[in-house]
Amino acid sequence: APANSKPRLDISLCAPRGFCAGVDRAVQIVELAIERFGAPVYVRHEIVHNKYVVESLKAKGAVFVEELAEIPDAERERPVIFSAHGVAKSVPAEAQARNMFYLDATCPLVSKVHKEAEIHYRKGREIVLIGHAGHPEVIGTMGQLPEGAVRLVETEDDARTFQPAGDRPLAWITQTTLSVDDTKAIVDILRERFPDIVAPHKDDICYATTNRQEAVKSVAPLVDAMLVVGAPNSSNSQRLREVAERAGCPVAVLVQRASEIPWGTFEGISRLGITAGASAPEVLVEEIIGAFADRYDVNVETVRTAKETTAFNLPRALREQAAE
Ligand code: F3S
Repeated sequence: APANSKPRLDISLCAPRGFCAGVDRAVQIVELAIERFGAPVYVRHEIVHNKYVVESLKAKGAVFVEELAEIPDAERERPVIFSAHGVAKSVPAEAQARNMFYLDATCPLVSKVHKEAEIHYRKGREIVLIGHAGHPEVIGTMGQLPEGAVRLVETEDDARTFQPAGDRPLAWITQTTLSVDDTKAIVDILRERFPDIVAPHKDDICYATTNRQEAVKSVAPLVDAMLVVGAPNSSNSQRLREVAERAGCPVAVLVQRASEIPWGTFEGISRLGITAGASAPEVLVEEIIGAFADRYDVNVETVRTAKETTAFNLPRALREQAAE
């Protein structure tokens, strides 16, 4: 071979990967709101956990805030959008109290969990939420009900030591982006301790989370390293990295952009798996494959473990806009 020839790298692209229907809808809501109402449009919290997406929307006229209180009174007429992760009831209440016009980009599959929580509460059940403390989705789900109504369980240890507050019947619900396997282990413990605990009718971990983890599981044993495209604060992306590691992948890293690729870590590999979290756009996957193609003679193959057809309706206020 010529002296300057690049080493060969076989890339297995996990499918499904990247944008889920809830993220797609949330990003569209911001774009359509800017088109219809002009800039600025306020967005409470990162619309989805991806810096690139947030920066692109900023460039189009979105202004990101963490709390509604940061929006000055003079700007109250501007639309404000709630992020895909969902919000506590106090947030729309505050918006109404200030006469703000808001659009809710909460993923319908997160709203489904909110409704479940309310039903359990009405039926007098004590609710165990399996999730990660501090994640906006967990804050939003707990905030559907009065303080103390929803109890957070994060780990198997928590499940072992959980003490019901009273003698009300129990029910469990979850964050939508958890590890399927970890959650099963936690639920098994709860079930053993509380055989009558009520389960969700349909899994709270969403189809997108489940499918992305499945794809990683099937690719991980075939490759020397797995690269997950996603943000450090993206729950589902972090889980993909863990799933790859547990499925036996010697190296599993999370990167946001090509500039973050830890080249040293990948030295000597000949097979690489690539996936992307539900909030990571495909352009970033392409950028990263491009960076590998600069250094390696790459051969890209897609490994598909599921087909996805889920799509969600836009809020009514934006539907005609989308049809135009
Ligand atoms: Fe919704 Fe699941 Fe995506 S809950 S935002 S479809 S990761």
